[in-house]
Amino acid sequence: MNTFPTQHARVLSGMRPTGRLHLGHYHGVLKNWIELQHQYECFFFVADWHALTTHYEDPDIIPDSVWEMVIDWLAVGINPGEAKLFIQSQVPAHAELHLLLSMITPLGWLERVPSYKDQQEKLKDRDLATYGFLGYPLLQAADILIYKAGLVPVGEDQVAHVELTREVARRFNHIYGREPGFEQKAEQARKKMGKKSAKLYSQYHKAYTEQGDQAALEAARALLENQHNIAVNDRERLFGFLEGGGRMILPEPQPLLTRASKMPGLDGQKMSKSYGNVISLRDEPAAIEKALKTMPTDTNRIRRTDPGDPARCPVWQFHEVYSEESVKTWADEGCRSAAIGCLECKQPVIDAVLAELKPIQQQVRELEQQPKLVRTIIAEGNELARDVAQQTMEEVRRAMSLELF
Ligand code: TRP
Ligand code: SF4
Repeated sequence: MNTFPTQHARVLSGMRPTGRLHLGHYHGVLKNWIELQHQYECFFFVADWHALTTHYEDPDIIPDSVWEMVIDWLAVGINPGEAKLFIQSQVPAHAELHLLLSMITPLGWLERVPSYKDQQEKLKDRDLATYGFLGYPLLQAADILIYKAGLVPVGEDQVAHVELTREVARRFNHIYGREPGFEQKAEQARKKMGKKSAKLYSQYHKAYTEQGDQAALEAARALLENQHNIAVNDRERLFGFLEGGGRMILPEPQPLLTRASKMPGLDGQKMSKSYGNVISLRDEPAAIEKALKTMPTDTNRIRRTDPGDPARCPVWQFHEVYSEESVKTWADEGCRSAAIGCLECKQPVIDAVLAELKPIQQQVRELEQQPKLVRTIIAEGNELARDVAQQTMEEVRRAMSLELF
């Protein structure tokens, strides 16, 4: 397993700009990003090329969605002072790495990705028998590997893509990380670390290879992470040597599984645009109130006097997200005994959703007034991302014998 120690890991994640963000995105993804930005070096990007893999016939919705998405991120508290925010198409090196990785990626690996057939089934109204759609998990692999990200926060449905990324990285390192005299070069690199670190490295290496000591492996990686005076090449050799391979040019990332969002849609299914059951972050308070007031409840409560069962009611799931214990007890008991009506039961939920969205919508309005500021934030993020991507590409080109000048 060629992975960086997680405490030093870079985090990378992307989102497709294919429409308005809703409470499902907020509770399922963005709140998690807000936490992560304090703990790791984070790269969050707008995956506009990914949007084109499914929306190539109607790309005109993309630009507005891109800027709305960026504003929504900022409005909920993603902090450009902590996380690097950028737009995929503004870092063209993603495309170069995608192309180069495509040379070594067996077709079967892409055909076997579960989302390939699933999405084609699901999005029947679109012709997805395209090269771009087949290759999009590989584009995602390039997105991740170009930043040497160690952790990729994703939902359940995207874990297979991170797994593909790991396989592609492994194959890349296997093919291009081999070099004549690797062991001698690793030994020379070891000595360049200085006496103390060189000795520690040997001890850890021995403990890991002879006794399978995982803690020693972790310690050796941490040691390497802290070597700032040796060249990148040498570091890659030392990482690779630990596990007996060649140079580890592209480290394998780990998925960071986001807790499944408990955010239900208005009908109790998962909140998703394709189910038409969403509350968007930008919906008017009056519209939200109306949507919640008219959302279905336990179908057994036909009359006000009929007792109900919260387990059969989507409103209850909203209480689970938004209400404290005392309110939940009140709703549960009131429902079962028919002491409260459904409208009454919904009121604390309505209040909580509106209270949650109020400061966000206020921020959105303020940011909408400052398009220049928003563009500057992203332009700076693009710049930072391009610098990191450029460094990786130099290594990749060298490894693939493309360093022509
Ligand atoms: N494919 C992801 C989605 O549809 C978005 C995405 C693109 C992504 N590149 C990524 C997520 C890299 C994580 C890492 O949601
Ligand atoms: Fe649902 Fe509340 Fe009505 Fe019970 S009282 S059915 S939990 S809305």
